[in-house]
This record gives sequence, structure tokens and C-alpha cells, in this order.
Amino acid sequence: MPDREPSTLWGKLIALPVDSTPKTIFVAVTLCLFCSMIVAFAAVNLRPIQVYNKALDKKVNILQVAGLYKEGVDVGAVFSSFEPRIVDMRTGKFTDAIDIASFDERAAAKDPSMSSELQEDPASIGRKPNFTTVYLLKNKDGSLDKIILPIYGYGLWSTLYGFIALEENGNDIFGLQFYDHAETPGLGAEVDNPRWKAQWQGKKLRDEAGNLMIQVAKVAKVKEHHIDALAGATLTSDGVDNLVKFWMGKSGFAAFISNLKAGAA
Ligand SMILES: Cc1cc2nc3c(=O)[nH]c(=O)nc-3n(C[C@H](O)[C@H](O)[C@H](O)COP(=O)(O)O)c2cc1C
Repeated sequence: MPDREPSTLWGKLIALPVDSTPKTIFVAVTLCLFCSMIVAFAAVNLRPIQVYNKALDKKVNILQVAGLYKEGVDVGAVFSSFEPRIVDMRTGKFTDAIDIASFDERAAAKDPSMSSELQEDPASIGRKPNFTTVYLLKNKDGSLDKIILPIYGYGLWSTLYGFIALEENGNDIFGLQFYDHAETPGLGAEVDNPRWKAQWQGKKLRDEAGNLMIQVAKVAKVKEHHIDALAGATLTSDGVDNLVKFWMGKSGFAAFISNLKAGAA
């Protein structure tokens, strides 16, 4: 007795030879859909973990730049000795107008209602945020120990995001470190090299007359303000030079630092 023709679409598909075009396309599409569902499920479910790890990484970087990070340290406990505050960059003073817990720094820096377009833009960041979070490290007696300020700007391939730690006098550098960039490993990414970063410690932002003197360059003008440019990565080094000068200068944190020193922040 001859085989009966399948009557449903599914039956017809199953009855096709395995190497037929419709059956191959069907299997490929089904597999793609299944895999994309797994990826979407993983992306949604891993999102809170990613957010947590990003926040943790930022805290680790703040501890590192302040010289408080050791392997195995309780990051949350040590981080509690910092006082995060929002600074209004237009006045150089603290503000409580922004909810610090939900403040998204990077989004705010791009938001026209929360930032202003830069006419002079040596750090190549386009817009200056109206608000930014700074971290004050306090001594046990409540006096100021270090000031941790966020800095960012363009290198050769990417925007470098980092922190600079200043001593309580607002002039001596304790450390500088980037936590996010895409410069080339072995060249621009040598900004992460501990030996290069160690050069920043003890350098002074300004001279006694208050002129901003800090400089990343191949040749030193004044040793106490000079950081050696990275060999083979002059463009990234120039980017770091520009961004540090921008953020430490009058368009950046200069007003805040002098307000803080005068007790007027
Ligand atoms: C693939 C590739 C990646 C590079 N990455 C960087 C980089 O991340 N930062 C940088 O300053 N220069 C980088 N350079 C080198 C620059 O093009 C340029 O030659 C260099 O900055 C000049 O530095 P020097 O005067 O110290 O030699 C790269 C070059 C190549 C070919």
C-alpha cells in the first residue's frame, strides 16, 4: 500500500529529506531563535551582577588611587572612610540638589540639561558636566586626608576615565589611575603600568605663584611638576597631559579646590 502524503505543514516538513533547503533553513532559524533566547535571558539576569561589579570596580579604583587597596581587603568597609559629595562645577561648591545614590555621571555629562558645551576643549570631551562626584578621605579626627577627583579625556583611541588623588593641600599629587580606556596594550595602555603611575606621587600641580605647572612630556621643564611621557605612545601621553591640565585648571576643579582649602566649598 503506497505511503500517504502528510496533510499538515509540519508533517510535510518532517517528511522532507534532511539535506533539503527548506528543512536546513528551518533548523538554522530554530537554532538561532533558541540561542538568542538564551543570550537574552543571560543578559537580563546578569545585568544586576554587572551593575554591582561595575560599582565595586569603581570603589576598588578609588581605594587604589588613595593607596588603601590590598588584595583581599573588605572594599565596602574601607570605602566607608570616604565621603562622596556632589560638586556643582559652575560654582566649585558642594550641592545637595542631586541625589548621589542615583546620579549617573556619564549620562549626565552627555545630557544638555546637565552639562554645557565646551568652547575650549583640550580634553576632547565635548561637554562639561554641571555636577560631578568627588570623594573626600577623612582622618579619624574628621580632618581632610585626601581629595579624590574624577578625570577623563581622549587619548589616541579612546576616552580614558580615571581618578587623581590629591593631598589635603589640594596641590600635591598622591596618585593617578585610569580604570577605563581602550588604548593599545604595550603602548598607550602603559598608563596602567605601576612604574609609570608611581611617578605621579609627590608631584605638584602648581608652583608657588599658583600657576598650573603639571606636565606630561618627553622633556622635563621643572622636575617637581614633570611626568615622563610614555615611550612610543606620545599621543596617549599628550591626551593625559591635556586632560589633567583641563580638570585641574580653571575649567575643571580649580575653583572647587580653592574653595575647599578656604573652607568655603
Ligand atoms: C597598531 C598601533 C597602535 C598604536 N597605539 C598607540 C596608542 O595606544 N597610543 C599612542 O600614543 N600611540 C600609539 N601608536 C603609535 C602612534 O601612532 C605614534 O606613532 C606614537 O604615539 C608616537 O609616539 P613616539 O613619538 O613616542 O614614538 C600606535 C601605533 C600603531 C601602529
